[in-house]
Amino acid sequence: MANRSHRNRGHIGMNALRKAGRSHQSLHAIAPRTLETSVHTVFSADCLEILRALPDASIQLIVCDPPYNIQMADWDAHADYLGWAADWLTEARRVLSDTGNLVIFGGLQFQGEAGSGDLLSLVSEVRRRRLLNLVNLIIWAYPNGMSAHRFFANRHEEIFWFAKTDKYYFDLDSVREPFDEKTRKAYLKDKRLRAESVEKGRNPTNVWRIPRLNGNAKERVGHPTQKPIAVIERLVASLSYEGSVVLDFFAGSAVTSRVAAALARHSISTDRDPSVVEYFARHMANWPDADRSRRAPFRMLEKAEFRNHPAFSENAGRAAAE
Ligand SMILES: C[S@@+](CC[C@H](N)C(=O)[O-])C[C@H]1O[C@@H](n2cnc3c(N)ncnc32)[C@H](O)[C@@H]1O
Repeated sequence: MANRSHRNRGHIGMNALRKAGRSHQSLHAIAPRTLETSVHTVFSADCLEILRALPDASIQLIVCDPPYNIQMADWDAHADYLGWAADWLTEARRVLSDTGNLVIFGGLQFQGEAGSGDLLSLVSEVRRRRLLNLVNLIIWAYPNGMSAHRFFANRHEEIFWFAKTDKYYFDLDSVREPFDEKTRKAYLKDKRLRAESVEKGRNPTNVWRIPRLNGNAKERVGHPTQKPIAVIERLVASLSYEGSVVLDFFAGSAVTSRVAAALARHSISTDRDPSVVEYFARHMANWPDADRSRRAPFRMLEKAEFRNHPAFSENAGRAAAE
């Protein structure tokens, strides 16, 4: 049977562009630039308070790992979960630039457990309101997790990647995986493959095999649902560019700012729980010396200086189009 993806409109369009020697607009809208110092702020705030304070189109990437009303903690309970989520999703759309991306973390295994909130209902809300376009569903698969006896033990979590427009930014080259030496040599001999593409490495695909953080993982800073640096790094590297602004308004441990600082993006990480500041300080303390010496310089802003953040500068979110 013919591969159905050959009849997919997106694939046909990409093939036509390739044959014409052109590339998709998501690949050439961004002028690369080098940032001298990135700016970060980490403080306690309600998600809507922070979103409403931000200018239109000022943010390149939103990393969103929301509470799902599954009573994992006292922050995880909402009487009208979807009504509340619709408010922050609408604001999230407003603050995204035209090249902007939003990723939402979640699992499908909790559906229906506590009534009003789960990843599927959030995604349906985004589609029903036509807020954002779905680009990819990433399956984050991990080898470690809880055991189960009444169903198959869960070993994956979902990351929905949405874009505001079809001009979304995506840097695949920044996250390609190198081929092992044997495969590389074999592919370089294969006349059907372009040597340049082989050297760049493979597309990591939308199935990411990255372990979850164990209780005793070195990078743990104390937040109960802290995400691994490796997962956040892949998102920040590919969906934002140097000097753009990354926002995480359910920041938890503020791992997003830890990663943004390493990759020379500006960042804003806020959470209703004031412990976010202490968690971030532990991330900084955990940062290995060898990595620190490579990091681009960055500086922190206090909550009182929030309006001095690059997100408020006139060209925030617009550098991409220049
Ligand atoms: C799933 S955790 C995020 C974990 C984070 N991604 C990490 O890797 O550390 C969700 C966070 O949302 C925060 N939260 C819940 N309701 C909030 C609200 N209304 N405004 C801001 N933060 C909120 C909680 O305090 C919690 O830390």
